[in-house]
Amino acid sequence: MAARLIDGRQSARSIIESVKSATAALEQRAGCTPGLAVVIVGDDPASHAYVGAKSRMAKECGFASTQHTLPATTTQDELEALVARLNTDHGVHGVLVQLPLPPHLDGDQLTQSVSPAKDVDGLHAVNAGKVATGDFDSGLVSCTPAGAMVLVRSVHGSDLSGLNAVVIGRSNLFGKPMSALLLAANATVTIAHSRTKDLPAICRSADILVAAVGRPQMVTADWIKAGATVVDVGINRVLVPGEPDGKTRLVGDVSFEESQAVAGAVTPVPGGVGPMTIAMLMANTVTAAYRAAGIKPPRFG
Ligand code: GUN
Repeated sequence: MAARLIDGRQSARSIIESVKSATAALEQRAGCTPGLAVVIVGDDPASHAYVGAKSRMAKECGFASTQHTLPATTTQDELEALVARLNTDHGVHGVLVQLPLPPHLDGDQLTQSVSPAKDVDGLHAVNAGKVATGDFDSGLVSCTPAGAMVLVRSVHGSDLSGLNAVVIGRSNLFGKPMSALLLAANATVTIAHSRTKDLPAICRSADILVAAVGRPQMVTADWIKAGATVVDVGINRVLVPGEPDGKTRLVGDVSFEESQAVAGAVTPVPGGVGPMTIAMLMANTVTAAYRAAGIKPPRFG
């Protein structure tokens, strides 16, 4: 039997509808419009595509959205001055600096210069620390792991007691916060990475397998336990074999066709985790705006 498809587009749409309602309610109660500032440096086409999608969605949600598009020659001081200005701007509730930055800039330092209350990416050490310690009421959770967890909950519910989860990838952006969220939901969590011995065997122990490595279709059928839930966080552009003109398509870190035959449920690429990242960014922005207005925010997802 083919695995169940986990529809990230549908889950994302439902979260966006809740964000729109919450935005309208905040406007009515406090006269406050959520403000999102997105900063992008240089001309990486993939980053521009992501940022364009974020800015469009922010407008659709009814936010006051501003995009700061800076040349690749921008200096660290200039960028830090912009972030400092956005940190004190009362109309801005969320600040996002798109990564990766050009190599002469220190992305970590910039990420840590965003005010934790406006860190809608959830990457500041204060927010990462809250996730690590299980405080989900006062911080902001990193968007992609938060979105991936919504999809996991859609299959398993909110209590993962007794389930083995394996996360491949240990980045601050995804692997570490994802592992913390799975652990907080009572899963037994293994973090695997490039130095892990016998990765396929570790993966085969997973009831929930989460792949975030950035290597196209690395996870094959023999890595997957029968009936497992497979969450594919990879977004890789690859050439379509045999097609002229360098035609490309998007694939995940999991071989989708192979996973279909073994897994119980899988997230497709595109249309799985990707749309959830943007939805959770919108949720974080409206959450930050509620807190700035002194009102308890609703929960999303
Ligand atoms: N680049 C790839 N993913 C992300 C993300 O979630 N946030 C930011 N700021 N940059 C990214």
